[in-house]
Amino acid sequence: MNSVQAVTREDWIASPRGALSGALDVPGDKSVSHRAIMLAAIADGTSRIEGFLEGDDTLATAAIFGRLGVRIEAPATRTRIVHGVGLEGLQPPQRPLDCGNAGTGIRLLAGLLAGQHFDSVLIGDASLSRRPMQRVLDPLARMGAKIVALDGLPPLRIKGGQTLQGISHASDIASAQVKSAILLAGLQAHGTTIVHEAHPTRDYTERMLHAFGWPIEFSPGVASLTGGHRLRATQVSVPADFSSAAFFLVAATIVPGSDVVLRRVGMNPRRTGLLRVLRLMGADIEVGERGEDGGEEVADLHVRHAPLRGIDVPLDAVPDMIDEFPALFVAAACARGTTHVRGAAELRVKESDRIATMAAGLRSLGVLVEETNDGAAIHGSPLRGGSVVSHGDHRVAMAFAVAGQRAEDEVRIADIANVATSFPGFEALARSAGMGLRAAG
Ligand code: S3P
Repeated sequence: MNSVQAVTREDWIASPRGALSGALDVPGDKSVSHRAIMLAAIADGTSRIEGFLEGDDTLATAAIFGRLGVRIEAPATRTRIVHGVGLEGLQPPQRPLDCGNAGTGIRLLAGLLAGQHFDSVLIGDASLSRRPMQRVLDPLARMGAKIVALDGLPPLRIKGGQTLQGISHASDIASAQVKSAILLAGLQAHGTTIVHEAHPTRDYTERMLHAFGWPIEFSPGVASLTGGHRLRATQVSVPADFSSAAFFLVAATIVPGSDVVLRRVGMNPRRTGLLRVLRLMGADIEVGERGEDGGEEVADLHVRHAPLRGIDVPLDAVPDMIDEFPALFVAAACARGTTHVRGAAELRVKESDRIATMAAGLRSLGVLVEETNDGAAIHGSPLRGGSVVSHGDHRVAMAFAVAGQRAEDEVRIADIANVATSFPGFEALARSAGMGLRAAG
């Protein structure tokens, strides 16, 4: 079974244009947008979501709830009105549900649909169809879910009508998606569901369940809830995505003369590891006055060019910057000395094997990168021009667009179509900030 989403193949040419400047608004947070649609759909009453990410991943999740009988209106861009049907009100889908490129979509939906009264099938695109699902299938099976997946890969065939039981799960991999899948199944389970994490991960599911009125206890490393309550519709305001801001933090840092402000960026501490690491490398990033957007802390980030030095990335920063390694690899290539990344084996099972794709791309630009199983040593050096391949990975494509701003010659980046999964409008925003970036056939 194939994803219905068309894959278009396009390239970018990135080249230096001088300093970056301006005050930029990056789109809404992807993780928060997925969860807002999901919880609003199974809440009682009508919820309003502001700042929704109009990206392919989150649009796929919204379309899936349309298939499950939930009416979702879009009165304006980045706004959604979701007419929730309650936890028992979803309708059986007529066709497989296409999660596109989204790991968050498929894994969280597996938990949410495992306790429903109907059968469903979750599919995704070629990249998602290679990503490991056993990490959610095992704990869900312990809860009583019946999900069949050949070799632990999508499609996921979910048998409805199961009675779920709460479990206590100790997670050895740092994954908010695994934690969230279990908690969402726990809503429909008898008894208490507890997830313990050795390495705390983003807590958006916990925070949003609380905002939708479900009793939940959580602190870094543990979350616990009991089945049998109801979700009440609410208003969700989605902060700007730190992971999208990350590309401009790095671009402005590495290009001499740059001075950029990123407005009202989500500052959840489980997301801002790159800020800590860039500062350890010598970056000049000021965090403005903190405000609040939908229960999440936000702040303006003011970044000016600064020379960087290579460091050993602290192990405890890794889960807090797991999506930022493509950008970090570029920063490391532009630093004086060597940057060591360890404890980041999860990068190998993202939208691409990000250790391999970043290492290969940087090598094509003349950078010495030594790969290990769980990281890399990146030796800072001048970047020359060349061709790199993103392997359909949105963050790899954007990271090399940033690298191109410091290269001696043009950088051609192949296969950029998936950038719209997380950052629609990246190319235009990058150009407005002064980056040299254009499409090439
Ligand atoms: C996400 C969790 C992370 C992250 C992904 C979004 C989420 O994945 O890489 O982009 O929304 O929960 P893992 O749970 O696989 O670490």
